[in-house]
Amino acid sequence: MKVVVLRWGHRPRDLRVTSHVALTARAFGASGLVLADTKDKSIESTVNKIVGRWGGSFEFEMDVPWRSYVRSWKKKGGTTVHLTVYGENIQTSDVIHRIKKTKKDVLVLVGSQKVPSEFYDEDISDFNVAVGNQPHSEISSLAIFLHQLFGGEELCREFRNAKLRVIPSNRGKRIISE
Ligand SMILES: C[S@@+](CC[C@H](N)C(=O)[O-])C[C@H]1O[C@@H](n2cnc3c(N)ncnc32)[C@H](O)[C@@H]1O
Repeated sequence: MKVVVLRWGHRPRDLRVTSHVALTARAFGASGLVLADTKDKSIESTVNKIVGRWGGSFEFEMDVPWRSYVRSWKKKGGTTVHLTVYGENIQTSDVIHRIKKTKKDVLVLVGSQKVPSEFYDEDISDFNVAVGNQPHSEISSLAIFLHQLFGGEELCREFRNAKLRVIPSNRGKRIISE
């Protein structure tokens, strides 16, 4: 199952948050990030630097019109999941099971500011999922959603062609540098 994250509503002042959405997406098993309707070269450069050093393949696209991207994703047979405080609770409902049961590639939509109301509609989001029904952030909700979707396997993945690798240790910092 391929998972791509669409970040809606990025503003220049959100630089750090959007970079962290990208790093979280990559570290938690997504294969790419799409920055909707805006360009930000600093985010592109952060993502490229991380991928260059820490390996793996992670696609980054920006200035992508969100409606047409969502429509084409669905047309190609993918499903869409909008992360929102108002959605079905990830823990108390069977929504993760239903998403997995589709066996489709997943496009995860996360906001920043208030998202357009269309995001909640069936023709945009197949699932509206809440990571608890309390407001927090796109970074925390994305991490927990991906963790539940991949069942923890994402934390054991190997990132190919890495120049830097951490040797997990109970103390200190051990890194292999190639
Ligand atoms: C800072 S919040 C946006 C709050 C904004 N005032 C609103 O009403 O939509 C930014 C993004 O974090 C995600 N988010 C925040 N809390 C969430 C939760 N409990 N479950 C799922 N996603 C959440 C959503 O994707 C949201 O668009």
